[in-house]
Amino acid sequence: MAAMRLKARFAGPLQGTARPPGDKSISHRALIMGALAEGRTRIESLLEGDDVHHTAKAVRLLGAKVERMDDGIWVVDGAGGFSQPTETIDCGNSGTGARLLIGAAASYKLSARFDGDQSLRKRPMNRVIAPLSQMGARFDSPQNKLPLIVHGGALKGITYRSPVSSAQVKSAVLLAGLHAEGETVLVEPERSRDHTERMLKVFGANIDQVEVDGSLHPRVRPGALKGVDIYVPGDPSSAAFPVAAALIVGKSEVRVEDMLVNPLRLGFFETLLEMGANIVYEETRDPIGEPIANLVVKASKLRGASPPAKRAPAMIDEFPILAAVAAFADGETRITGAAELRVKESDRITLMVEGLRACGVEAEELPDGLVVNGRGPKSVRGGAEIRTHGDHRIAMSFLILGLASKEPVTVDDADMIATSFPGFEPFMQNLGADIVAL
Ligand code: S3P
Repeated sequence: MAAMRLKARFAGPLQGTARPPGDKSISHRALIMGALAEGRTRIESLLEGDDVHHTAKAVRLLGAKVERMDDGIWVVDGAGGFSQPTETIDCGNSGTGARLLIGAAASYKLSARFDGDQSLRKRPMNRVIAPLSQMGARFDSPQNKLPLIVHGGALKGITYRSPVSSAQVKSAVLLAGLHAEGETVLVEPERSRDHTERMLKVFGANIDQVEVDGSLHPRVRPGALKGVDIYVPGDPSSAAFPVAAALIVGKSEVRVEDMLVNPLRLGFFETLLEMGANIVYEETRDPIGEPIANLVVKASKLRGASPPAKRAPAMIDEFPILAAVAAFADGETRITGAAELRVKESDRITLMVEGLRACGVEAEELPDGLVVNGRGPKSVRGGAEIRTHGDHRIAMSFLILGLASKEPVTVDDADMIATSFPGFEPFMQNLGADIVAL
């Protein structure tokens, strides 16, 4: 079937209130921990995107009962651990699903085959194979990529110094550590998102922090998880798109409700404030060990910014949309410390630079980032068809750019948007955006 193409064009200011879909990171974790727990976990506002659906199917194959109720609540009856699956576990497009599930599965006596789509098959898995092998798991993985088979069981805890700041690596190791002998500690260069640590606490795991090399790092010791009720806040990585649109489309004012405001996810919003964005946070609350707030965003005159490289993990998924916003700012935006972008769903550095240039924006690749030379509001020509390589965030970023460009922007494949932001098109249309299928 041919991919769906979407076209975005300027149609006046964006206005209104919207609640972004549930956070993807928290949704995967709720399903996985619910499946590892004893008893019932009820999940409200789970992200019903393709990536998370793959994880729901995966944990069913690994022994849990998972059901979506008529009121939209997802109920997981955990078996207190994983058991031998009867077929290959297909993680679809999701690196998070794959790496977290491989980590959790590695600590049980089973052999499980994991696979994914064309994009996921290209992504590095050695980053989880290496620590899990040190803990005692065995892998059949000729290329250190998917498809692979993990032979799990009888793991020993380790202190792992991860070469990358990756919450997926951290989570794989910590989840494996839940069912390993002794303690497992994960040390990373810069702190990555900490949803696994926060949620493990809620599930009653034996988790705390220890000092290693002068800073605190998470440590787990074996112990059972108990089913709980989880509320999934709106995803800041999805909210980033309407927020960006409101900033760059003149006279817009958008209210985003119920967004996760975990500080380790706010690098993009922090950078926008440095660029001069008019964003006000309202009513912070914390019902589930994760802070949540409403945001009011108004169209703003922006200037270029160079976020510090150490901020990269806190905004890793938002660099494509930041690069799009930077085209409408005055002056240079320099993104560094983001080499990880090259091993996401696509090489996001190459695709962003290529797409920006096609839209008449001056941009240049760096080995670990990119430079965008913004020329202010109304400066972007647009008028291009963008190659997305099936990457959801590249597609959404260029559609947002199209809303403020002189000529419409088309993306060649919008199907993958459903992996993280199902309903993106009607969501943006409700705010007044002109985005149509071709
Ligand atoms: C995620 C971690 C990040 C992020 C991804 C979700 C997670 O990946 O890009 O979208 O939920 O743990 P890395 O761990 O590879 O940085």
